[in-house]
Amino acid sequence: MQEIRVELTKNPKQKPTDESKLGFGKIFTDHMFMMNYDEGEGWHDPRIVPYGPISLDPAAMCLHYGQEVFEGMKAYRAKDGRVLLFRPEKNMARLNVSNERLCIPLIDEAFCVEAIKKLVEIEKDWIPTMDGTSLYLRPFIFAVDPHIGVHPAKQLIFMVLCSPVGAYYPEGLNPVKIYVEQNYVRAVRGGMGFTKTAGNYAASLKAQDEAEKQHYTQVLWLDGVERKYIEEVGTMNVFFVIGDEIVTPALQGSILSGITRMSSIELLRSWGYNVTERKLSIEEVAQAADQGLLKEAFGTGTAAVVSPIGELKWGDKIMNINNGEIGPISQKLYDDLTGIQWGNLPDNMGWTVEVK
Ligand code: COI
Repeated sequence: MQEIRVELTKNPKQKPTDESKLGFGKIFTDHMFMMNYDEGEGWHDPRIVPYGPISLDPAAMCLHYGQEVFEGMKAYRAKDGRVLLFRPEKNMARLNVSNERLCIPLIDEAFCVEAIKKLVEIEKDWIPTMDGTSLYLRPFIFAVDPHIGVHPAKQLIFMVLCSPVGAYYPEGLNPVKIYVEQNYVRAVRGGMGFTKTAGNYAASLKAQDEAEKQHYTQVLWLDGVERKYIEEVGTMNVFFVIGDEIVTPALQGSILSGITRMSSIELLRSWGYNVTERKLSIEEVAQAADQGLLKEAFGTGTAAVVSPIGELKWGDKIMNINNGEIGPISQKLYDDLTGIQWGNLPDNMGWTVEVK
């Protein structure tokens, strides 16, 4: 395994004093991880260095063609002082799935998990302790060849940033209002919808902006071909409790394979719920709402954790879900998942990895 060089900062920053005001992704810690790729040399020079600006050639390919992939993961501080990561190997595996689609050289997944553990170990005093807070980790890779011909990069940089965070949505665990998007689409099969790449998020901004102007938190994307089947919400996968079935859209190439989604399915099934991954049309959800069968809806994601949905707007139709309150399944899933992540419940699934 390559040795990771460490250069510690001489000017540590002031850590946030009021953890209730962290918000999401605005504060960064003292150090970051970096590693370079050059054709012929592979990934090399892994290092942890003081956090700061990097210099890029203005012709760097990522700035022109968006050859970039990223991940989102968290480090948690348990009440007994342990520092925990949640299924970090799944993030690195997914990063390689994104890499493969975007012609980015694959990373050594086990090595990158070790690098992230080392970075978190150095930054552990930045992990907030208030309930619901964590240290968000943002691994990302981008193409830096100074060349504006369109071709796969031969020079890239892999970085990991750390950011102490609170809840992603200002609503916290209060149900969010979601707007069903009918004009714009996020991804189509054969495209990049299953990857975590900058372009998918750029494609979502316009719809997100319009939804926010109407006082909705996020949009629910429908499939890009028939505009009929539910895909995902911008920053989370979605689940609907219809009668005694918990339905989430099947992964068909245009949806992100969420690690919180996967873990939620495994937990819910372990409790005996009937969870199905299948095609689900917005019409079916609307009908279930009319018949009183739509009991709960919630989103799942690393940043969003488990986020109950209290209202869905589809054209003129407004679906009020569980009177805009968090339902029992969403609440239990939130409690148990976060209980495991924050080390307050036994981890019978073997999902957490201690940093020491
Ligand atoms: C995450 O949940 O980690 C994400 O990557 C969503 C995000 C773009 C904030």
